[in-house]
Amino acid sequence: MNDSLTVRDNRTGQEYDVPIENGAVRGADLGKIKDGEGSPLAVYDPGFVNTASCKSAVTYIDGDQGILEYRGYPIEQLAEKSTFLEVAYLLVHGELPTKTQYETWVHDITYHTFVHENVKSFMEGFRYDAHPMGMLLASVGALSTFYPDARDINDDEIRQLQIVRMIAKMPTLGAWSFRHAQGKPFVYPDNELGYTANFLSMLFKMSEDRFAADERLVKALDVLFILHADHEQNCSTNAVRSIGSSQVDPYSAVAGGVAALYGPLHGGANEAVLRMLRRIGKKENVSDFIDGVKNGDERLMGFGHRVYKNYDPRAKIIKKACDDVFEVTGVNPLLEIAMELEKIALEDDYFVSRKLYPNVDFYSGLIYEAFQFPPEMFTVLFAIGRTPGWLAQWLELVQDKEQKIARPKQIYTGHRTLEFTPASERWA
Ligand SMILES: CC(C)(COP(=O)(O)OP(=O)(O)OC[C@H]1O[C@@H](n2cnc3c(N)ncnc32)[C@H](O)[C@@H]1OP(=O)(O)O)[C@@H](O)C(=O)NCCC(=O)NCCS
Repeated sequence: MNDSLTVRDNRTGQEYDVPIENGAVRGADLGKIKDGEGSPLAVYDPGFVNTASCKSAVTYIDGDQGILEYRGYPIEQLAEKSTFLEVAYLLVHGELPTKTQYETWVHDITYHTFVHENVKSFMEGFRYDAHPMGMLLASVGALSTFYPDARDINDDEIRQLQIVRMIAKMPTLGAWSFRHAQGKPFVYPDNELGYTANFLSMLFKMSEDRFAADERLVKALDVLFILHADHEQNCSTNAVRSIGSSQVDPYSAVAGGVAALYGPLHGGANEAVLRMLRRIGKKENVSDFIDGVKNGDERLMGFGHRVYKNYDPRAKIIKKACDDVFEVTGVNPLLEIAMELEKIALEDDYFVSRKLYPNVDFYSGLIYEAFQFPPEMFTVLFAIGRTPGWLAQWLELVQDKEQKIARPKQIYTGHRTLEFTPASERWA
């Protein structure tokens, strides 16, 4: 088989042989196809629907079959048998740790959970009702000013140190953003606790000596972090890579990822799911709501995905985690509405023909609410989970010799060569 594409340009009658590598043609090769005036052919692809921006060995997704693997390991096995920190190691280093490597990794992350006291003072300076995600994105970005060595992105040892620092400090920044809005004092990390238990302690501890979270809740949150840890070239990862391609420090690049995640079509969807479920109010209203979606009046939030055209494998695991969490906290009454929505939608031709299935956000909001997180915190939790993925992708980017500064083309549709008249004459 000849791995190439023969293209005949009907504008010029010219024929071109374009090589196909890994199921893709290079944009630069298409650029060799020129019109009569010598302008190169470009690809117009808003939202990068069919454009690969990089080669990556981090995460594999088969959207049609509902498969998600980190470094080759199926998400179902990792969620059941691994821990978030082991998964973080796997993502960043590309393989599972030995016992010693794991112990060193956990130790290093545990001992980098503290932040400089100045970070605390500037976080206290936010308005009393600041959105925690705004606080998180500002404070992660600000870490670059505390670690100016991070600018040396070509030194592997320095890069690894920033990776450990960021995975370690995200829960601290996330928890403090939460406490600030509640008017509660910030809780320092407790290095005797595991990663997720320590996060819960920084969120909820009051005057007790040690905050002891229910083990089932700790495990459920750890699983949620694992499920969110990476998702190949999604909007926020693309933002991290795009910003990182300017060779800025990783804190600034990750701050860009947090910003992208803040948007309702990305990390904010689970908050929108809860608002939607509340608006529906009771099971009996579900079918009217579905009619509204089909008429184009609204979207069924938590359904549909750019990549998954089948059940999102993460949604299946979360649905199971719901049972474990609700065993501790009692059932969230909105669950009944969610299950009815899912049942009706999965049988309805509108959703079936468009391949719209529940995504990770459909049930995650219900779990987070059971933990008593306010909706503004949901995306913060997502960001903590996604941090190792962003960093693994960033690390891959900075070591990839083929990468260049991200700079897409445009198709210019505006005016040309207008005559400028000064304001004093135009307004006369
Ligand atoms: C995730 C999402 C942005 C993907 O969008 P996309 O890949 O650009 O898909 P499109 O918007 O092109 O949708 C394709 C079709 O399905 C419809 N559709 C997509 N998601 C839908 C939803 N949640 N409810 C109703 N219809 C939906 C679109 O209206 C479109 O229909 P049309 O062909 O008749 O115009 C989109 O499905 C969505 O907005 N979902 C809700 C938000 C959400 O849960 N986001 C979290 C993602 S993890």
